[in-house]
Amino acid sequence: MIKKCLFPAAGYGTRFLPATKSMPKEMLPVVDKPLIQYGVEEAMEAGMNNIAIVTGRGKRALADHFDVSYELEHQISGSSKEGLLTDIREILDDCTFSYTRQSEMKGLGHAILTGETLIGKEPFGVVLADDLCVGDGDGVLAQMAQIYTKYRCSVVAIEEVPHEEVSKYGVISGSALEDGVYLISDMVEKPAPDETPSNLAIIGRYILTPDIFDIIRETPAGRNGEIQITDALQTQARKNMVLAYRFKGQRFDCGSVDGFVAATNYFYERWKELGD
Ligand code: UTP
Repeated sequence: MIKKCLFPAAGYGTRFLPATKSMPKEMLPVVDKPLIQYGVEEAMEAGMNNIAIVTGRGKRALADHFDVSYELEHQISGSSKEGLLTDIREILDDCTFSYTRQSEMKGLGHAILTGETLIGKEPFGVVLADDLCVGDGDGVLAQMAQIYTKYRCSVVAIEEVPHEEVSKYGVISGSALEDGVYLISDMVEKPAPDETPSNLAIIGRYILTPDIFDIIRETPAGRNGEIQITDALQTQARKNMVLAYRFKGQRFDCGSVDGFVAATNYFYERWKELGD
């Protein structure tokens, strides 16, 4: 059973400036909940109750969100608004939170390596909170945990994207082991559409085995001088095996304005249904 889940959340979120000038991108609300809370709820559903967050400068709001606010609770105690804090209360009761800082933004691979001190030597989930996922039935991380239990190796979540959009993603190629599960033979970070091995794009959900930390340490900086997790996973795929899993459900790219608005519309409909 995987217990820990790492949230790299140190990025600048420049696509959302000026909203993200002094507020973490992960705190942007989709209807009434910040992005990171959706991610933490998904991790909890997968049994990963030890939440590890890699933060950076200007990200204190993240730690404050996952803490009790005595004044606020006192203020609304006994009123109809008390129920609005039920979900976050449950999270605080059931999860532990630990934090470390990435002092230089040297890429997602580097952010994950920064989290080693919080993870140790056990397999762990990774959630990029700006990818907001809605699973069909089980949540996406819970689906991936089932694949991990069967194969005991790193698993990355993938989805098919339009051919012309591959250059926004890490892309894999591989052979199908079973429906929706691929043994990865090749991975490329942000390929040009005419050079891409496929249109199977890696999204922001991973289950990683802890040997990934040593591999990241030895991975040279790639594109933009950043240490890419895709490069480290490519090495891991050559040494052991790494699987790609086409998850059941949908994903909203909330790191982009279009995806954020689509998620807002989707969750607004759900919110209205719950209210009725
Ligand atoms: P993004 O590529 O979406 O970067 O990172 P970003 O900086 O957050 O957003 P933009 O592109 O400037 O708008 C993917 C994920 O990796 C984390 C980010 O916080 C995000 O969750 N990340 C990225 C780090 O934690 N550290 C890094 O050095 C880079």
